[in-house]
Amino acid sequence: MADAVEIRIERLPVGHVRADDFKAVSAVLKSPEHGEVHVRNKWMSLDPYMRLGLSPQAGYVAALNPGDMLNGPAVGIIEASGHPDFPVGSHVLSQMGWRSQFVSQPEDCGAALLVDVDVPLEWHLGLLGLTGVTAWLGISKVLRPQKGETIFISGAAGAVGSIACQMAKLRGARVLGSAGSPDKVDWLVNELGVDVATNYREQDLGAFLDENAPEGVDCYFDNVGGGMLDTFLVRTKPGGRIGLCGAMSQYEESDYRAGPANFFSVIENNLQLLGFNAFRLSGEEWAEATTELKRLVKEQGLKPCHSIVRGIKNASLAFAQMFEKGQLGKLLVEI
Ligand SMILES: NC(=O)c1ccc[n+]([C@@H]2O[C@H](COP(=O)([O-])OP(=O)(O)OC[C@H]3O[C@@H](n4cnc5c(N)ncnc54)[C@H](OP(=O)(O)O)[C@@H]3O)[C@@H](O)[C@H]2O)c1
Repeated sequence: MADAVEIRIERLPVGHVRADDFKAVSAVLKSPEHGEVHVRNKWMSLDPYMRLGLSPQAGYVAALNPGDMLNGPAVGIIEASGHPDFPVGSHVLSQMGWRSQFVSQPEDCGAALLVDVDVPLEWHLGLLGLTGVTAWLGISKVLRPQKGETIFISGAAGAVGSIACQMAKLRGARVLGSAGSPDKVDWLVNELGVDVATNYREQDLGAFLDENAPEGVDCYFDNVGGGMLDTFLVRTKPGGRIGLCGAMSQYEESDYRAGPANFFSVIENNLQLLGFNAFRLSGEEWAEATTELKRLVKEQGLKPCHSIVRGIKNASLAFAQMFEKGQLGKLLVEI
């Protein structure tokens, strides 16, 4: 028997998600039976896609209801085990975030043993998790920016953006990016080596591009959708590539799936619109990505960037603030 803290949905948010849309509740866990493990979570990931399950609109994230828990990546340690392949003391990556502990069959919660113990545990949720793998997919496989090319990355100071910026620089491209505060703009330029960054909340994007990419950009890595995607549909060079990673600016809208208004520019400008989804990668591709990301850290100075919130009861506020003002790099909760 053990006492767990679980974060459950109090009400479905309308518009901006708020901390009090969630509630921390206590739960008593039973001891693991044959084939089950008892895991104490150490870290959990907060990701924009989790907002989609709170939307009334159907999508690739299953719709949730009041009383449900969100799911998501977490890493933890096995405290008791009835499963021969999951020994006590080993670490697991599962989809059982948003709770301090759980008892489950590993097969039911996507739990996998973490054999890669030469990196900090939390990297499995950031650099070596969905975040880093998505940046790798967008930069190394989809957009492939080259020396002499200019790439613009939106959401540049966020989880995916901060890794994508560094990877594009390592390939020799000129990197431009946007973020939502002067501190983030400074961080992008001074810490991550971005060539020029703009605070999109204060500076007109068109004016920034007139000054820094008057002929247009070769590639656009789109993390935010909305008006920024519309701008790049007319500010990417003819024949250029637009990598569609996410639509963060739309996730709190009633129609988060809405497309861009300037769609006809794809035809006019001979653009390549390239959508990509890391959830669709195979195990082999995922392993290729994490191997490459670790190599870039070791040999080329790629910096994992994590913002850490302490305590599971602070997860709801951190999740709400992710949409309101963002953070530097990947947002993680140390449970
Ligand atoms: N395709 C895939 O496989 C895949 C996988 C993971 C994530 N994603 C997507 O990738 C995107 C980034 O994810 P993430 O994990 O990096 O999230 P994140 O750390 O929260 O970063 C998102 C960034 O978006 C920026 N942003 C928010 N609203 C904006 C707006 N209205 N205009 C311009 N910028 C805005 C924020 O910048 P400021 O805070 O500076 O405003 C923030 O840094 C999301 O759309 C996510 O859904 C896709």
